[in-house]
Amino acid sequence: MTSRKRFIGLASLVFILTPAAALTAEAMTLKEIMQGLRDDLVDISDGLFVDDFEQVARGAMAIAEHPPIPPAQVRLVAEELGLEMAAFKQLDTLVHELSLEINAAAEALDREAAVTGYKQIIDGCFSCHDAFKERVAAILSAP
Ligand code: HEC
Repeated sequence: MTSRKRFIGLASLVFILTPAAALTAEAMTLKEIMQGLRDDLVDISDGLFVDDFEQVARGAMAIAEHPPIPPAQVRLVAEELGLEMAAFKQLDTLVHELSLEINAAAEALDREAAVTGYKQIIDGCFSCHDAFKERVAAILSAP
């Protein structure tokens, strides 16, 4: 194969693969995002139990940088929650801020602060679940 042909072959491969990868990232549903948050939380907790602060930081940053909820789902949630959407967003922000605090604590090797943040973030997860999970799951799974 000439190098030019090889280049074209590679270029078309990249062309085929890139949009698919981009699409998957965008198409992640709220439920899939949540399943990711669960894994990230387990990373934080495992890390704390064995004093692996890198793992704690990794889990915390993955929560902080979770993919955005797809706009179509945001619209459905906003329609369902109305004025309560502000409270929903606030709990998302709270969890986001706590994940940054846990990351900072892990980087500072401050076990106590990391454990405190860990307990608070779990409270944050359940606050939103108690208030909204059932309703939001119902409208997002409606056909
Ligand atoms: C702002 C609200 C909110 C916050 C904060 C939140 N969740 Fe959720 N979570 C939801 C909603 C809504 C669902 C239901 C989604 C659905 O079924 O479509 C859900 C569902 C889940 C599920 C079930 C997924 C499944 O397979 O059915 C898990 C696991 C989960 N969340 C983990 C977490 C963890 C861990 C945190 C904290 C780090 C968290 N959530 C924080 C709103 C929230």
